[in-house]
Order: sequence, then structure tokens, then C-alpha cells
Amino acid sequence: MGKFVVFEGPEGGGKTLQARLLADRLRINGHDVVETREPGGTRVGNEIRSVLLGLGDYTMLPETETLLLAAARAQHVREVIRPALERGAWVVCDRYVDSTYAYQGGGGGLDYQSLQAIQVFATGGLEPDVRILLDVPVAIGLRRRHADPASVNRIDLADMTYHQRVRDRYLELAAASPAGWIVIDAQGAPDTVQSCIWRQLQQRLANA
Ligand code: TYD
Repeated sequence: MGKFVVFEGPEGGGKTLQARLLADRLRINGHDVVETREPGGTRVGNEIRSVLLGLGDYTMLPETETLLLAAARAQHVREVIRPALERGAWVVCDRYVDSTYAYQGGGGGLDYQSLQAIQVFATGGLEPDVRILLDVPVAIGLRRRHADPASVNRIDLADMTYHQRVRDRYLELAAASPAGWIVIDAQGAPDTVQSCIWRQLQQRLANA
């Protein structure tokens, strides 16, 4: 089995760039790497993504978000992630189940037990080998995100208190199971953040 590495974090932590840099580095080291993201990663997942994140004239309950995300995730696990891991590839994924705990749970106020039951159903219990939390204070993250208006999605538009709850929940999740998480201060320059991720990931896997 390959390794399943997930990037997590609040808005504006630079996950997308760091996921790409890590995938490049793993390839240079001779690994087969699949890069993917949520919501999305499959054709039906991308259709669901546009309903979830589109700026259409509608509101959406966190329950609805959770079920749409879970539908996309079920497809993603079986069509992309599991087959890649089974052939020995590394999977580097931009967001996974902990995004649901942080956003729909922390931000949206849904209880952990209900969310967990849905995640187990959607993923068949597939968990990451390691999650990399790119942590950034909310005001800085949102400022980075809004610097590129074309990248702003429906969930980004939630208020500051929502985003603060998201960040807080991520930190709680990581603190509750330190063996499953690497927490990185993502305020630094991309190169610094990348070196930090690489060093900690190697240590973690060497100890595993
Ligand atoms: P995306 O444009 O991929 O941006 P980001 O760089 O922030 O990942 O947007 C994904 C959005 O979907 C982001 O606002 C977080 C949200 N999301 C959830 O609320 N719950 C989830 O389970 C997932 C996977 C994403």
C-alpha cells in the first residue's frame, strides 16, 4: 500500500501550492504520486463541487453541505484514492474528512458523532496516514484569499466568527491525536513552509 497524505487547514494557508510542491519532491525521490483534491477529484465530484461552492443565489444548510461532500467523497475514495494506494502510489490530497469536521462541525455547528457516522459510510473507513495542518491566523488567511477575488467561493464568504471556529476546530483535532497530524505554521514564505513539511514528514515516516 502507498501512503495517503492529506493537506488540511483554514483558508489562505497555501495548501494547494504546498501539495503540489510535496508531490514534485516525492516524484524526484522516485515515488509514483497521485495529486487530488476535495470536493472534487472525479467527474461527478466536480459537478457536486460546483453546486457546493458556486456563488448562485441560494443558501445551503450545513447538513446539505455534509451530504454533498460525503457523496463526492464516496466516489473519490473508490474511483481514485483506494486504487492508487493499492497499486503502491502515494496520494497527496488537498482536504479530506477533517475539512468536514472543521467546517461543517466547527463552523456549521454539527455534532461530531453524526458527522463521523457519515464519514465512515462515505469512505469505508479509509483514513489518511498523516494530515498536514497548514495553520494560519484567520485574518491573515482571509486577506490572502481575498487578494485573488476569482478564487473566492461560497464558503469563503462566511463571516469571521465562522472561520475562527474552523481554525479552532482544526487545532483541537490535531491536539487530540498528535500521532495523526503534523502542524505547520504557514505564515512563512512558501520555501520555508515546504522545507518544514518535508523535514517533519520524513521524521514521522521514519518513526512509523
Ligand atoms: P477550494 O477552492 O478548494 O479552496 P481551499 O484552497 O480553501 O481548499 O475550496 C474548498 C472549500 O470547500 C473550502 O472553503 C472548504 C470547503 N470544504 C468544506 O467546507 N468541507 C469539506 O469537507 C471540504 C472538503 C471542503
